[in-house]
Amino acid sequence: MLNPQLRAVLEGMPKAELHIHIEGSLEPELIFALAKRNNVSLPYASVEALRAAYAFTDLQSFLDIYYAGASVLLQEQDFYDMTAAYLQRAAADNVRHAEIFFDPQTHTARGVPIKTVIDGIYRACQDSPVSATLILSFLRHLSEEDAFATLEEALPYRDKYLGIGLDSSELGNPPEKFARVFARCKELGFRLVAHAGEEGPPAYIETALDVLKVERIDHGVRCLDDAALTQRLARERIALTVCPLSNVKLCVFQHMGQHNLLELLDAGIVATVNSDDPAYFGGYMNDNFIATFEALPLGLSHAQRLARNGFTAAFLPPAEKQKFLDEVDAYFAAAAV
Ligand code: HPA
Ligand code: ZN
Repeated sequence: MLNPQLRAVLEGMPKAELHIHIEGSLEPELIFALAKRNNVSLPYASVEALRAAYAFTDLQSFLDIYYAGASVLLQEQDFYDMTAAYLQRAAADNVRHAEIFFDPQTHTARGVPIKTVIDGIYRACQDSPVSATLILSFLRHLSEEDAFATLEEALPYRDKYLGIGLDSSELGNPPEKFARVFARCKELGFRLVAHAGEEGPPAYIETALDVLKVERIDHGVRCLDDAALTQRLARERIALTVCPLSNVKLCVFQHMGQHNLLELLDAGIVATVNSDDPAYFGGYMNDNFIATFEALPLGLSHAQRLARNGFTAAFLPPAEKQKFLDEVDAYFAAAAV
């Protein structure tokens, strides 16, 4: 059992969430409500039956259900409601700043206009007290040509998202498959990130950095298989957006006691804690912190470091970043007495 004082500190500390797929925040109850509103039929009889299907064995077994869940999203209001629900839940966990992935291809492939997707998600961000920005993510199981077409469609709305990411099935879809489209995104001035080293090898982390020129790595936990890469990530202060509950649910680690978060911190890496797809993996930000601190020998100093890392790695203007870092330090100064 986690020490109640440490638990309270974790719950109350100001947080940045840098790895959340908005479609992965869609709770079964909202999936059913939207299915009803939009007359979409689901291959599950009830909320309980859907939840019972969340027994994943690897990334692909999750993605199949995740894309099926997203099929209920049709109108701008659906995207708004999903995002508003996430931001409200995040605020309850004292998330002050969120950088939110969205997967436009999951929706445009079903005939939903990209404007509908972006406007709904963006409007909910504007209406929230949480500082929230968006990262458009390409699906790596699709072609680079498809990613280029998506970028073209999304460019009229470029003031509504600040970054570009890469997600979906990692193995067999290495970063270099998207070299040209990421080069174009860099030219256009977007902040760049990519999922790498979740199920894929350390080599994918290297090519994400060297070929795609990303500034942060999403997941990246497999970097420890390569000592030189580990040292490089620490030296160059390349942040990893780690998602502990996701890693256990998708069997990257067999149980939380085997998670390498502490090793990453001890190696000097700017590791952060995030929820990934909270509706599917059993928890939001506080659940992720509590589960890792319960299972691993982590204490108050690690909590402060993780909270600071989140804001340090955020794509925020320097003054805003400093304001959040000062807030973290003031919180821990008060917690120590
Ligand atoms: N990995 C890859 N693709 C994803 C994930 C993930 O953890 N979540 C949503 N899409
Ligand atoms: Zn992810």
